[in-house]
Amino acid sequence: MALKVLEKDKFMRESSEWVKYAKDQAERPPRKTGAELISLLKEHGVRNVIDIGCGGGRNSIFLAKEGFDVTGVDFSEVSLGILKNKIKAGKIENIHLLLGEGNKIPVKDRTFDAATCHFVLDLQFGRDEQKTMINEIYRALKPNGVAVLESLFTDKEVEEVRNRLKNAGFILLDDRLSKIISLGEGRSKNDWVFIAEKSKQA
Ligand SMILES: C[S@@+](CC[C@H](N)C(=O)[O-])C[C@H]1O[C@@H](n2cnc3c(N)ncnc32)[C@H](O)[C@@H]1O
Repeated sequence: MALKVLEKDKFMRESSEWVKYAKDQAERPPRKTGAELISLLKEHGVRNVIDIGCGGGRNSIFLAKEGFDVTGVDFSEVSLGILKNKIKAGKIENIHLLLGEGNKIPVKDRTFDAATCHFVLDLQFGRDEQKTMINEIYRALKPNGVAVLESLFTDKEVEEVRNRLKNAGFILLDDRLSKIISLGEGRSKNDWVFIAEKSKQA
């Protein structure tokens, strides 16, 4: 299992197939949660957002265009390169990029009003790193900060993530199925969205 995970990391960092995937994904529209996300962030008085596993940046760019100060973190230089070109072409000034691990986010404690993380937590399964990533997101948020986490999970995995969020100290504000994704042969995964808040005292 550990070897498989390492191979996946290597694939995401280096392979030409991933370059193509990252480029295609960067061209897709921001997630459906987009417009809803903006109202949520505005209700919380959010000014700065960290986008964990930002990839080619479709969500980071969307948030930056809405006026938030965005920090995109990704461990793939390839993905960050795609986003860098888009930032340059669009003359976008309010996105900052960090090359780094989502499970050791290179920022100080309590820096961000909000965190977004789309389709990254599902890539951390089979090791403690998903738990570490959730704890890291918590650490990077200011007290009362809000996290919007979306990924593809089985029912069992949804329950595990729920527990990991609670164990990290998060209060779950919303927790719901966005879409069922068929994997064929009767198998499916849930596109699940968790909205969680760090407590005021933390
Ligand atoms: C499926 S893509 C999603 C990209 C983007 N969030 C989106 O929705 O378009 C997953 C991204 O997470 C990054 N990633 C996966 N595991 C990571 C980790 N442990 N630390 C930092 N980045 C990670 C990958 O390099 C990739 O860019």
